[in-house]
Amino acid sequence: MKPFLFFLIAGLTFLGACSPEKVSANKQTAQSQEISSGQQKLADGKTVYETNCAGCHDSGVAGAPKPGDKTAWSERIAHEGMALIVKKSIEGLEGKTGAMPPKGGNESLSNADITHAVTYMVSAVK
Ligand code: HEC
Repeated sequence: MKPFLFFLIAGLTFLGACSPEKVSANKQTAQSQEISSGQQKLADGKTVYETNCAGCHDSGVAGAPKPGDKTAWSERIAHEGMALIVKKSIEGLEGKTGAMPPKGGNESLSNADITHAVTYMVSAVK
């Protein structure tokens, strides 16, 4: 068989193995396809975080809790719970030390984007 044909067939077989929602991601390497959906959400959350949230949260502007800051996050999780933390991030909040605009100021983000970003931020705590 010609190498070109081999790769074509191998490629089609690979595509056929994907679920419909994953087809758009067919350019990803086989390795990245293997990561579980939980890890995928964490990776999505990291991207959302770095693009939209890091400006305040990396440096802790106005008391914004930094990702992986165990003390800050475990206190918030204990007092509010994850559901409320996510809700407030979506709706915006006025806290003890400062305020955060709804969705960090980017209204085009989906609620799922925010959920993933928050999951990424607290992931070092658990
Ligand atoms: C303009 C600065 C700013 C941006 C941008 C920003 N935040 Fe915040 N965020 C804050 C501040 C300030 C606080 C803490 C307020 C307080 O508790 O006094 C906060 C608190 C939070 C909390 C804790 C909420 C709670 O209930 O305790 C979460 C979660 C959070 N931000 C997520 C995000 C996410 C996700 C993004 C990006 C989509 C983001 N933030 C973008 C300033 C920002």
